[in-house]
This record gives sequence, C-alpha cells and structure tokens, in this order.
Amino acid sequence: MSETVKIKDIRVILTAPEGENLVIVRVDTSVSGLYGLGCATFTQRALAVKIAVEEYLKQLLTGRDVERIEDIWQTVFSHAYWRNGPVLNNALSGIDMALWDIKGKRAGMPVYQLLGGKCREGVAVYRHAQGNNPQEVEDHVRAFQEKGYRHIRVQLGDFYGGIPKSLPKPEGALEGAYYDPAEYARSVPALFEHLRKTVGFEVELLHDVHERLRPGEALTLAKALEPYRLFYLEDPVAPEDLDYLENIKSQCATPIAMGELFNHPCEWTSIISKRLVDFIRMHISQMGGLTPARKVAVYAEFNNVRTAWHGPKDVSPVGHACNLHLDLVSPNFGIQEWAGFSEAVQEVFSGCPEVRNGYMYPNDLPGFGIDINEKQAAKYPLDNKVDFWTQARTRDGTAVKP
Ligand code: CO
Repeated sequence: MSETVKIKDIRVILTAPEGENLVIVRVDTSVSGLYGLGCATFTQRALAVKIAVEEYLKQLLTGRDVERIEDIWQTVFSHAYWRNGPVLNNALSGIDMALWDIKGKRAGMPVYQLLGGKCREGVAVYRHAQGNNPQEVEDHVRAFQEKGYRHIRVQLGDFYGGIPKSLPKPEGALEGAYYDPAEYARSVPALFEHLRKTVGFEVELLHDVHERLRPGEALTLAKALEPYRLFYLEDPVAPEDLDYLENIKSQCATPIAMGELFNHPCEWTSIISKRLVDFIRMHISQMGGLTPARKVAVYAEFNNVRTAWHGPKDVSPVGHACNLHLDLVSPNFGIQEWAGFSEAVQEVFSGCPEVRNGYMYPNDLPGFGIDINEKQAAKYPLDNKVDFWTQARTRDGTAVKP
C-alpha cells in the first residue's frame, strides 16, 4: 500500500479580473507540489464563502485522506447540521472540485477519464446576444454565427428585459434595476418574429425569462413562442413556483430549462422525475461540486432530461473546466452556456478550455488542467460592492426577484 496523501492546507484565493468576484479554493497536500483547485464562486457574497472555507472546513478536513472524495463530501455536507444553502454549498463545491483535481493529478489523467471517458469530442456552447432592439440582437447573432456558433441566447435590453434608462419611475423611487413585466413579455415574441424572419430557423435560439414573470404570464409567453422553435426557454418561473411548471409543460411544447438558482435536491429531483423540465442546469460551483452534479447528470439521463450546466461570467475557468469534463462524459449532455474568457481572465488562469467553431475542448492535462497565477490574481482584487442589478423593481417601485 502506498502512503496516504493527506490534506495539509486549505485556503481561498479571491480575484476579479473582469469585475465579477471569483472564489477559488486551493487544497494543498502532504506531497510537496501536489495541490488541487476548485471553484466556489458566489460573486455577491464572496467573503462569506471565504470565511466558511478557511474558518470551518480547513480545521474539519486537515489531515484527511485526499482520495476519499465521497466520504469528505458527505461529512462536510451534514457537518454544519443545517444544510442545502448557498455559501456552505459553495464552500463544499470548491473543496470537492479541488479533490477531483488532485485525484486526476495523482492518476495522471484528466478528470473526464476518471468519470468513464469521453462520449463526444467537443461540447457545443451557446453565447449571449444582447441588444436594445431586434436589429441590434440580429447583428450580434450574425456575428456569433460567423464565428461558428450554432446556439445563441437572445435577450433585449439590460438586466434581462429591464429598461432602466427609459422607464419612468414613481415619485421618491428607490434605486434599482427597473422593469415592466408586461412590456417585457410583449417584447419577446416580437424579437423572435424578427429573428426567425431574418436569420431563419437553422440557428438554435434560446431565451432566459430570469423569473421576470408571474406563472400565468410565463405560460402565455411560452405558448406564444411555440412557433419560433426555441432550443429552450430558461427559468420561466422562480424556484419558489416550481409547481406551476406542470401547467406550462401540459399546455405547451416550448422546451424548458431550469436550475441555476437551486440549492436543495428537492428542487431538482421531483422536476426531473416528473419530466417538468427538458434541461437541468445547476451552478456546479454552488450545488456542492462535481460529486452531486455527476449524480444529477446520471439521474437526468434515466429520465431523458438533458444537461445545460450554468456557465456565465461568475463561474471561474476552474468551474468551466468542471462543467466541460462532465459534459464530455454525459450521454444526455444538451448544451453548455459560455460567456467567453477575456485576456484578463487568461492572464490569471492558465489552461482555460478552448472554443473553436462552436465547440469547447479540454486541454488534456491531468485533473481539470487549470492553474492560477496568484501574482496576477492579486492585480485584480475583490470588489466588495453591493450589486445593482439584483435590486430589481417593477414600474411602481416594488422590490421583486431579479
Ligand atoms: Co439564467
């Protein structure tokens, strides 16, 4: 028996190369030079995650066998007694991914090899096309198509359909990202009418409702969008309104995707088993890491639900690599969201997955294949600001879900 490799140190690296706070967990081991990186990004509450990792999980896990990922996952998951919330889920995600990274490095294999090996060569990604009017969105769609992308999410206005600059606010209105649900709901079918007339039906189009509507309004929108053959309609209802998905699924053929805000297995198990979604898309850096995500992917496979893991800018390259490795081994992979890596991000992180002609590819280094240059990371310190866009308000000034 070879000697047990133990967890020696755990710390958090905070960096914001694009303005979004990224939370990276680094797990060092008893073997010099052997460490793993995980993504624990919760951009709006980054410091809370750092405290959870460094003040609680470090003392719980130091000295444990790095190979026992499942045991460590189960231990951390219930150790605080209260569980299934953000912050602690993020902290656990970072530890979990770092341990998979270490396991891959020890085996000399990319993580996807540990999960059974590739069942496809590259993973199709979708990009975000945004504009202030249908013509601007069309221009952005065409620009992405020229670069080889075949899946594009289309949105009007800033802040998911909000029109904060033009919307008249009531007297004494508080600060916030204002929007009008009715105006938003009217604008989306008009956008798709324009796009299908101009760019045709060959390109796969997606749209994110971002829980901006009441359930009845969401049903009306999903039905109105049927003729435009969406790849999927995302978050038509809020996680608190999941029971309404049954109304939508029973009345309309528009494919539905949900999951980025989910914390608790009760949120995803029943909608998968009842086939109330076509795509499941949690934030892997928030749900507890690769260990639960891999189980969800398999559970979804047996229910013929496809995966579309959350992949915006508040997922670090380590988190994107984790998405990618899981995408490569999942027969029921559907699509991968990807917002692009800026030069600043690539200065901080080496080994970022590469995208060519609409497909994302791993670098095939052991583990997740991503490293962080801490000197560069320090050039982009955490911005502990209070986010603007999450202070959403409707026309009369009522605070609502963003
Ligand atoms: Co979304």
